[in-house]
Amino acid sequence: MARPPTPTDIIPRYGRNHSARPLSTDFHEPRPIMTDQLSTKNKAWSGRFSEPVSELVKRYTASVGFDQRLASCDIDGSLAHAEMLAAVGVLGPEDLAAISSGLETIRAEIARGEFNWQLDLEDVHLNIESRLTQLAGVAGKRLHTARSRNDQVATDIRLWLRESIDSIATLLGTLQRTLVDLAEREAATIMPGFTHLQVAQPVTFGHHMMAYVEMFARDAERMFDCRRRVNRLPLGAAALAGTSYPIDRDRVAATLGFEGLCENSLDAVSDRDFAIEFCAAAAIAMMHISRLSEELVIWMSPRVGFVALADRFCTGSSIMPQKKNPDVPELARGKTGRVYGHLIALLTLMKAQPLAYNKDNQEDKEPLFDTADTLSDTLRIFCDMMAAIEVRPERMRAAASEGFSTATDLADYLVRKGLAFRDAHEAVALAVRAAAERGIDLADLSLAELRKFAPVVGDDVADSLRLESSVAARDHIGGTAPAQVLAAVRRARARLGPAA
Ligand code: ARG
Repeated sequence: MARPPTPTDIIPRYGRNHSARPLSTDFHEPRPIMTDQLSTKNKAWSGRFSEPVSELVKRYTASVGFDQRLASCDIDGSLAHAEMLAAVGVLGPEDLAAISSGLETIRAEIARGEFNWQLDLEDVHLNIESRLTQLAGVAGKRLHTARSRNDQVATDIRLWLRESIDSIATLLGTLQRTLVDLAEREAATIMPGFTHLQVAQPVTFGHHMMAYVEMFARDAERMFDCRRRVNRLPLGAAALAGTSYPIDRDRVAATLGFEGLCENSLDAVSDRDFAIEFCAAAAIAMMHISRLSEELVIWMSPRVGFVALADRFCTGSSIMPQKKNPDVPELARGKTGRVYGHLIALLTLMKAQPLAYNKDNQEDKEPLFDTADTLSDTLRIFCDMMAAIEVRPERMRAAASEGFSTATDLADYLVRKGLAFRDAHEAVALAVRAAAERGIDLADLSLAELRKFAPVVGDDVADSLRLESSVAARDHIGGTAPAQVLAAVRRARARLGPAA
């Protein structure tokens, strides 16, 4: 007799390694999973077994706690497979009709949160197939003809990842547009540019933002590139060797929108390089986010005060009433490590795996899902946060006026007056030293004093020491001049096209 479920029987949807479900909404709500101690023999494969697996082994081997989020893709794949089997005459039209309507019923049950996920049925595939058999009778039992869970799961992950890539690429586009708008607004806002985190030369804040646009544009390119390799159909590989039925793989690929086939059955069921590639692209995108995060943390520090983030992205301290902490950028910086970890987990999962499918591959899902969730949530928050950022031009300008940021401009001025660059550099270095000793800026030195270091200095020198002249002078593609920032904004908008 079945005992009532106890709390330990209920496994959260994202498995025991996940303390909370991600922010992204899926098409169905998490459902508890029931286990029935007396029915531990999995009917799909237990025919040759003389004893059931233990409770612990059942939990250890099951994936339904996390792979149920593949359900919609699994149903799409099964519909395409069944349609093809009917087209080649392996399935009768009544069977196809029963399978199709059964699968749509299941899709609706899952969407309503009414599907009864069972740990005993191991994974999303067997849960759905078992319910289909309840609904469609023997037709449900025919669905698995010419297929294996090995090619089925590989297909499901590719369908799921393709969708995730598309939504991440869209978010990367939105983030770029947000930064482009900010760059346009702040095209002429002067801030100190840093090398070694020391004031180097003045730049414009717009130029600084456009640097991140370049980074996120490459991240989007990497996503699109990876998508081409994700978007190939494994179905038809069956367990590993192919199948003896007269299948039409091209038809299934066309139905599911795949650009091509995985052309070797052993490779099709076993490799997860496409997921690794995605995680690598995601790790690089998070690395870029972490750089922006680090800068926001520095810029938000009251000592720097270049920007302020809207309150909704910050938290206070429970002890220090004055605090407004940049939690979102700090967490994004921290979550970057988690995404790197998933990449290494997948690389290690795949390392030295003999061909073809091994159960190790079931471990691909949690890192992959969490990578996509973390990156999506981070991008979504950054779009909103960067749109609402408050820029403090006076603080930036004050900082750019310190640290002799126009020393290079003075050297360039001397070169225009005929000095060799190395001699000009030396003359300005001596002038900087003299000004630093007196605690004043280069612009505070009199003409006569400057001439002691370089007699060619004329009364037009003051202009080259101004911050505006310094940035305006860097007026070539890739330079920080406001005019160039606006040109870069136009190019970026043309590349990005209108918002989706
Ligand atoms: N849950 C399995 C996975 O995620 C499905 C494939 C199982 N195949 C098998 N031969 N046991 O990989």
